[in-house]
Amino acid sequence: MEVIHTVRDLRRRLAGEGAVGLVPTMGSLHEGHLSLVRSARTLASCVVTSVFVNRLQFGPGEDFERYPRDLSEDTRLLGAAGCQVVFAPDESEMYPVPQRFLVEPPELQHELEGAIRPGHFRGVCTVVLKLINMVHPQVALFGKKDYQQWTLLREMVGALSLPVRMVSGETMRADDGLALSSRNAYLSPEQRSEAPRLQRVLRTVAAGIKAGAARGDLLTAASAELAAHGWQVDYLALRRQSDLAPPQPGERALVLLAAARLGGTRLIDNLEVLLPEA
Ligand code: PAJ
Repeated sequence: MEVIHTVRDLRRRLAGEGAVGLVPTMGSLHEGHLSLVRSARTLASCVVTSVFVNRLQFGPGEDFERYPRDLSEDTRLLGAAGCQVVFAPDESEMYPVPQRFLVEPPELQHELEGAIRPGHFRGVCTVVLKLINMVHPQVALFGKKDYQQWTLLREMVGALSLPVRMVSGETMRADDGLALSSRNAYLSPEQRSEAPRLQRVLRTVAAGIKAGAARGDLLTAASAELAAHGWQVDYLALRRQSDLAPPQPGERALVLLAAARLGGTRLIDNLEVLLPEA
């Protein structure tokens, strides 16, 4: 496996490669990222994993500076997972001149995550567009853990006619149900044992929806349970899977999305809810 830092070396390395698969990451890798790499191996002969902590998608006061970085450990994990190329540009390689051209995503960028993190999805879409242009992959893989990100990036690829196939991966979880996240490293032992409640309340809401209970009441009760256990809830919402619009009556493919903070750590999670045909 090769670790490459410049676009020039990357293009040289990938010239003549057949099917290239791209897994964009910000490093601090865990089984969630590695599961995407393993899926990529089944879809492409050469897997490129990018490791780049993208300043553009962090707001003022967010954790850009303290975001965990360990390229040598990431490289070791990627080698073991069968990745061929690690692309780890530094900031001056990704943004040699200040990035004043930004991808402007549609209205959904201002909702849910975007309501709390203004400009976040502009930064995500801009860096992913650049990565796709740098790597020219046939296929790019993203986790459903970041459901809104996946939804917007999929729409971006269609809207900008990018010649890349978009593939999603399921959310990888710890045994107690907590979605794996690089930010879990910030949790104290007490917070770590509290953290799985986020997924548990989503499961309770999903079961209630399937049983036909009032959706508003279920969401309110779930937020109240989190608040009672020390969480600050940013949002807990039910949307439709296809485009994250509020569901119309009779809509069956739904998704619950939540973000909440435990102390200084912000966790997000979601749960797809498929209702049976009436
Ligand atoms: P990062 O948080 O490092 O995640 C990289 C990819 O791994 C994303 O597609 C994310 O959805 C996926 N992922 C994270 N946790 C996962 C889990 N528990 N199970 C499955 N997949 C998981 O998301 C980003 O980086 C950045 O926004 C990026 C797309 C790289 C742009 O900078």
